[in-house]
Amino acid sequence: MNAYVDPDLCIGCTQCAGLCPAVFHMEGVLAVAEPGPIPPEEVPQAVDAANACPVSAIRIEE
Ligand code: F3S
Repeated sequence: MNAYVDPDLCIGCTQCAGLCPAVFHMEGVLAVAEPGPIPPEEVPQAVDAANACPVSAIRIEE
């Protein structure tokens, strides 16, 4: 699974980086997802981050 942040939607609330810092970090005011597959042990946190995003900017895809 891979994570993506839509930079046109992200409002920089930082929740994703707080909930799943292994996958999401802030670059300036926007969140960026690490490229490549999400480590299996981080998938639940990445899904939590996607669900927590107030503007649904995060996609988790196979
Ligand atoms: Fe942006 Fe949503 Fe993360 S607004 S900082 S992608 S929780």
